[in-house]
Amino acid sequence: METLASERPGEVKKVFVKTYGCQMNVYDSQRMSDALAADGYVATDTPDDADLVLLNTCHIREKAAEKVYSELGRIRRIKADRAKAGQEMVIGVAGCVAQAEGEEIMRRAPAVDIVIGPQTYHRLPEAVRRARAGDRVLETDYALEDKFEHLPHPREVSVRGRGVTAFLTVQEGCDKFCTFCVVPYTRGSEVSRPVAQIVAEAERLAHAGVREITLLGQNVNAWHGEGPDGRQWGLGELLFRLAEIPGIARLRYTTSHPRDMDDGLIAAHRDLDILMPYLHLPIQAGSDRILKAMNRRHTADDYMRLVDRIRAARPDIALSGDFIVGFPGETDEDFEDTLRIVRAVTFVQAFSFKYSPRPGTPGAGMEFHVDEDVKNERLQRLQALLTTQQREFAAELVGKHTNVLLEKAGRAEGQWVGRSPWLMPVILDEKAGEIGDIVDVRIMRTGANSLFAQAI
Ligand code: SAH
Ligand code: SF4
Ligand code: F3S
Repeated sequence: METLASERPGEVKKVFVKTYGCQMNVYDSQRMSDALAADGYVATDTPDDADLVLLNTCHIREKAAEKVYSELGRIRRIKADRAKAGQEMVIGVAGCVAQAEGEEIMRRAPAVDIVIGPQTYHRLPEAVRRARAGDRVLETDYALEDKFEHLPHPREVSVRGRGVTAFLTVQEGCDKFCTFCVVPYTRGSEVSRPVAQIVAEAERLAHAGVREITLLGQNVNAWHGEGPDGRQWGLGELLFRLAEIPGIARLRYTTSHPRDMDDGLIAAHRDLDILMPYLHLPIQAGSDRILKAMNRRHTADDYMRLVDRIRAARPDIALSGDFIVGFPGETDEDFEDTLRIVRAVTFVQAFSFKYSPRPGTPGAGMEFHVDEDVKNERLQRLQALLTTQQREFAAELVGKHTNVLLEKAGRAEGQWVGRSPWLMPVILDEKAGEIGDIVDVRIMRTGANSLFAQAI
């Protein structure tokens, strides 16, 4: 066989990665890029000159999944143009659509060379080599091997390029089976990464200049593992261990399930200063009837009592949440219960969605689907309430002292941007420190999605 131009020794190959969906996909895309770097691939920010295009996809709602096929149409045309010019392009589809619809992608999109599910990314470099040799590769087994063990740790050079904050996946998969959700089917059952692996990766990130780590998992607070002391650890103990790593100044974690908020984790919020006072704790709906139909396995009152316990431990904690409106059978009254719990809890940030029936989930087969215009109206009302809460929270911060992790230069000349403990971006009009420093500030005023502050 003829040697391909891009296989000449020393020649750089370019990979374009497009990421959809949640932060776990962001993390996975970085790991995939790191794994491909060993084969000479460098990142490019356009598909036009890419030797390899990877779409890391999301299946959570219908719209998310559809995007993939329209993007594939565009990429296929670029591939055809490149072929005319004698250049090769390998197209790979990764992520949750790959896992859920692997064979269908192969059928519907003949230009796709590789379909690879989230459990098998350690086999990506091999899949790319096979595709370059002319194979079409479908890798959607739930691999028995632990993908984390085989994927390389983050490369120091790429970590440095990504700034002072980083994601670190500690847990994958979900055993909760909420009746609306595809995640248990696309990501498989819950797996926790071992403590030693997590600590090693965190140390590496810290060494590369990272100051803030966000631990990731579909149910991150279901994480558990054996500690070096031989005892079973929960996420709380893990956070305490990570806090000992020199250089790490802030810790966060996401996404949590209310049922897995145990005493150890609440204690970490009480006793661990560098655990930021911010918690994403989805409730989805406020009606017990709907929560039951969703198989959330807690009531609105359980959630409220949990929030009270967390706030007792850490009074300045800010909550964020996810909501679904128009789940099958949701009446006006049920929806009012959602508004009621939002008013009772108050959220500083929230993601709210219209229910989207997903193939293969129990919800899709339920009776009494809600009309689209009713879903629209409910979503609008809910979002109006959530936006008001968000604004009120920001307004209350004006005049207060807090601190900011400096991340980068701002858009306007002389401005510097950092993050408050509550995740909101904070804009400073002078360089009050070096990137990666934590500086004390006074909040002066609120912007559209940010706060303006002065260093003190
Ligand atoms: N593991 C997380 C969230 C996973 S998906 C948790 O348990 O909270 C992120 C959010 O997408 C969910 O919290 C939910 O609000 C939303 N979502 C999931 N499936 C959906 C569907 N079929 N239709 C609309 N929104 C959905
Ligand atoms: Fe989906 Fe529920 Fe699992 Fe979250 S807890 S990933 S919403 S099944
Ligand atoms: Fe989407 Fe998969 Fe994340 S469905 S939200 S990319 S776990």
